[in-house]
Amino acid sequence: MRIAPSLLAADFSRLRDEIARVEAGGAELLHLDVMDGHFVPNISFGVPVVAAIRPVTRLFLDTHLMITDPRRYAEPFVKAGADSITFHVEASPDPRSVIDHLRRLNVVVGVSLNPNTPVDALEGLLDLVDLVNVMTVEPGFGGQSFRPEMLPKVRDLAARLRPDQRLEVDGGVDAGTITAAAAAGADTFVAGTAVFAAHDPAKAIGDLRRAAESAREDRHA
Ligand code: DX5
Ligand code: ZN
Repeated sequence: MRIAPSLLAADFSRLRDEIARVEAGGAELLHLDVMDGHFVPNISFGVPVVAAIRPVTRLFLDTHLMITDPRRYAEPFVKAGADSITFHVEASPDPRSVIDHLRRLNVVVGVSLNPNTPVDALEGLLDLVDLVNVMTVEPGFGGQSFRPEMLPKVRDLAARLRPDQRLEVDGGVDAGTITAAAAAGADTFVAGTAVFAAHDPAKAIGDLRRAAESAREDRHA
């Protein structure tokens, strides 16, 4: 069970302190939402921000590219210090070539599915990736509500993935919604607002983890 606070919800004027807080609070990953104003109707941050935070944290930089041409921009993100690159299957006419390219860059490879994209879109690709990210909101903005109708997709993927592959849910995850996502089989939980808007982010991370773990125990019981 891994908690991945999304930097999108942090105070951008104090990134170093915000990152230190979630690192001390026990997060395993830092989720970086890169938006290009084209694949999604919003612009967030890019390579220079990844490069700036790399030296100030040991957290795994879980980099979510919500951009139109992931193949073109992957290498600069890896050079800047990204540990994983998750791209959208909808963003590429040839996702297989993006995966091959990422493999050559020696980075952890993730693929993401928009809410309206079925698991079938990963036909022939599922074996080739390290992580699948299931969007539980429409990508583009933090602070939206979790869409429970994505849970069957999570269950379906959980049944198909190998134990060494990770299943991440992204969007609207909080101490309430995380339970259903964990019970459905997700093991990695992106949480922006629920962590960074909390009065005590370290406590929020602990609460999320406990809720996920107890839901997972119930699932195996
Ligand atoms: C949405 C992003 C998410 C989002 C999560 O486009 O991919 O990572 O920022 O934020 P919350 O947890 O606030 O929904
Ligand atoms: Zn994300």
